[in-house]
Amino acid sequence: MAVGRVAREAALLLAENGQDVDPAAAAAAGLLHDVGKSAGVGRELPGRAGGPPPGVCAHAWVSAEWLRQRGYAGKVTRPVMVHGLDSLSSDRFYPATWEEKVVVLSDKLVEDRFVGLSKRIDGLRRRHPEAADVIERSEPHLRQIEAEVARACGVTPEELGRHLASVLAVEVLSAGAGARGAEAAGVDRSARALYTGLAGPRLDVPGDTPDTGGA
Ligand SMILES: [Fe+2]
Repeated sequence: MAVGRVAREAALLLAENGQDVDPAAAAAAGLLHDVGKSAGVGRELPGRAGGPPPGVCAHAWVSAEWLRQRGYAGKVTRPVMVHGLDSLSSDRFYPATWEEKVVVLSDKLVEDRFVGLSKRIDGLRRRHPEAADVIERSEPHLRQIEAEVARACGVTPEELGRHLASVLAVEVLSAGAGARGAEAAGVDRSARALYTGLAGPRLDVPGDTPDTGGA
């Protein structure tokens, strides 16, 4: 939930600064980026169509494919597909649009609350020593994307971080909040209803690059 709210806010800031970005698409993609980790979602998908291409994390591919099959537009499915660390080392799947950049960035700024890139990356290193190489390779790209978003908004990365953190300081969507809460947060209702219906224990996707921790 938090990643969707931060992604939406970053996209709104970019839009206010004249950038061509769709905050609703960024919010939906942020909200649903890990839907493939939810129980019962797309478990059959990795074995079909050859699975994810190189440069796409398995869970990100499952999430995006599952959403694509349900009619979500590319503006939502593509940011979901390229939000994993593997895409940051890929020419073909490197986050390119503002929606893609704010979703991957927001996912790496947030754990269960806003922690910023350094703490998030430290947490990944601690929890996933087996993925040390991909985490190491990803860090400069994440800092570059953060700097790029901040520059386009006319602020420093520190100022951007403080602003995005403030979005999560006020709890708009308390547990069990209904459509009014979702509307107040600007979250697409159908996306939130979908996610709420599927929320459950996170599952590991076979062959995945771990990047869990975002909420
Ligand atoms: Fe993820």
